[in-house]
Amino acid sequence: MKVAVVTGASKGIGRAIAEMLADEGYSLALGARSIEDLKKLAEGLETEVFYHYLDVSRPESVDDFAERALKHFGGVDLLVANAGVGYFGRLEEIRGEDFEKMLQVNTLGLWRTVKAFLPSLKKRKGTVVAVTSDVSARVFPRGGAYVATKWAARALVRTFQLENPEVRFLELRPGAVDTHFAGSRPGKPKEHGFLKPEEVAEALRCLLKLPSDVRVEELMLRSVYQKPEY
Ligand SMILES: NC(=O)c1ccc[n+]([C@@H]2O[C@H](COP(=O)([O-])OP(=O)(O)OC[C@H]3O[C@@H](n4cnc5c(N)ncnc54)[C@H](OP(=O)(O)O)[C@@H]3O)[C@@H](O)[C@H]2O)c1
Repeated sequence: MKVAVVTGASKGIGRAIAEMLADEGYSLALGARSIEDLKKLAEGLETEVFYHYLDVSRPESVDDFAERALKHFGGVDLLVANAGVGYFGRLEEIRGEDFEKMLQVNTLGLWRTVKAFLPSLKKRKGTVVAVTSDVSARVFPRGGAYVATKWAARALVRTFQLENPEVRFLELRPGAVDTHFAGSRPGKPKEHGFLKPEEVAEALRCLLKLPSDVRVEELMLRSVYQKPEY
């Protein structure tokens, strides 16, 4: 039985990926701060699930989560580092504390999470899926701070790959997705340019079926209703 870890599994993309992985027969270790949401999700999944409080912005929380998950399952084959937050505003207006929060979660949180599971992933020749964004390689007005944390995340993923060839690193780069992201509410019309989180999960399902000697290094996907921008 393969074991997958999903961070930010309580909502949105992480939740949809957790559901897809359960359907694919993975055992799951799920982390997020909203423990009640994780409990409800776990109760509806037909696979072995370990869930625990996780705040990726706090090093001790990541270490504690990883230790418990690894103790529970004995190892991990797939890590989906998905937890992320977004705050938007012109660079001269964005609040320092919001920029710092994004760095702590989107950039340092990703680094900490990968680091914590890396020894086990190396042992099992596992896979890391890092959920960044289609903006991890472009910029747009009012997005500068968020985008900077995702460009940095992309740099971390690529460096991890160079340093750890025995692990496959996939940078998953969705465009707009209809979730709770940045305080929004799910249920937005598709024509407004949003993918559904389940569609992101379906794309990942396809990639995970490829032979283990195929390394897909990045996947950018957007709704046809979202303007293509590079
Ligand atoms: N929605 C989009 O348009 C879009 C586009 C491209 C990329 N992304 C990226 O996709 C990822 C998932 O976002 P989403 O759209 O699914 O948003 P979402 O619905 O707001 O979900 C975000 C998830 O991240 C978790 N999270 C936030 N801060 C955390 C922390 N400090 N520690 C642990 N977990 C934390 C949340 O759980 P708790 O609040 O329970 O901790 C939640 O499960 C993010 O990395 C985001 O940057 C989103």
